[in-house]
Amino acid sequence: MLFNNSQLERIKELETPFYYYDLNLLDETLEQAKRAADKRGFHVHYALKANFNDRVLSVIQSKGFGADCVSGNEVQKAIDLGFAADKITFAGVGKSDKEIILSLQHDIFAFNVESIQEMEVINELAGKLCVIAKVSLRINPNVDANTHHYITTGLDENKFGVPTSELEQAASVIREAQYVELVGLHFHVGSQITDMNVFKSLCVKVNEWKNWFEERGTQIKVLNVGGGLGVDYQHPDENPIPDFETYFDIFDRFLERNAHQEVHFELGRALVAQSGSLITKVLYTKSGVKKHFLVVDAGMTELMRPALYQAYHKIERIEAGEDAVIPYDVVGPICESSDCFGKEVPLPKSERGDLIAIRTAGAYGEVMASRYNLRDEIRYVYSDVLNLSPSL
Ligand code: LLP
Repeated sequence: MLFNNSQLERIKELETPFYYYDLNLLDETLEQAKRAADKRGFHVHYALKANFNDRVLSVIQSKGFGADCVSGNEVQKAIDLGFAADKITFAGVGKSDKEIILSLQHDIFAFNVESIQEMEVINELAGKLCVIAKVSLRINPNVDANTHHYITTGLDENKFGVPTSELEQAASVIREAQYVELVGLHFHVGSQITDMNVFKSLCVKVNEWKNWFEERGTQIKVLNVGGGLGVDYQHPDENPIPDFETYFDIFDRFLERNAHQEVHFELGRALVAQSGSLITKVLYTKSGVKKHFLVVDAGMTELMRPALYQAYHKIERIEAGEDAVIPYDVVGPICESSDCFGKEVPLPKSERGDLIAIRTAGAYGEVMASRYNLRDEIRYVYSDVLNLSPSL
């Protein structure tokens, strides 16, 4: 169960829905990831896009991770929360001039550049500021991540990175660019990847393109292989922490590198997903002609993943009980039929006021919330608050 009895009493007093962050689990997850990476000399930049909740980010920063950002605001947030500028990368297909200038002023570690034109713009803006922009070239390696098509990024039809057919031209633009220094190659083939063979295939491509550059006399210092390690949405209790050892081991074994080359990762989901749950209350129960519905007070506005990707997050009633199990469609209050967290989910017979946990919601949950239907601002609670004073 997610909560012990005293925590449960506290939870019952709180206004729902809210995100609950288990800081102990977060801590342990980060420790395991760090240990497995450090052991191999790997560098991990946390992908802020997965969750930029201040407290969560501060914990991540305190463990010594770098920051992988996708907007000027994320770069600024990382700086404000104490991430060292030389551990910040800035990725994304559509960086605005304002965002590029901000990042140049902070002298971040590198821009992960997604097109030849972007390279030219960065060169021009860096020239105006009389600084050198460090860049990694994002290559689209055409590797199938074998995941949901909305979160696949490394195929020819995806908008990300420079296609390999344009690398000759990209290399010559980089050579000519006076204010740009190529520090690395960047790859990211998708998210929620659970098939480890995908990462093996990625290593083969990284080796191939690294060699391609080296054969042309360009030394590559950083091999950035992106993020994408998936988590177990079905079994959050059995698998609360992803298998970082196996994951990093693949890159250790299959990536060719010399003693001067660094391997960088941009993990998001794997570091934070299991530590977050969305806690919601049953507003109404009703039985239609064909269905039993649980109408809860959270909706797609709080957790969009089920509506957007048909994702299933394990749903459970928070209080144990011996009640008969009923297949419920668990739906939210938003005026959209896609506002549904799960169909025919076997749950103990529930009543108005029962608390429900929607698990593995720490990544791409709170950050993707919206105010559609003029919903309340999202609320969140940290585990240490539950264990402390009697009144919140
Ligand atoms: N690096 C790049 C360049 C990325 O585009 C992403 C994620 C990451 C790293 C981090 O990937 P992760 O380790 O979290 O898989 N909203 C979707 C996921 C979108 C992922 C976008 N890019 C979801 O809820 O499944």
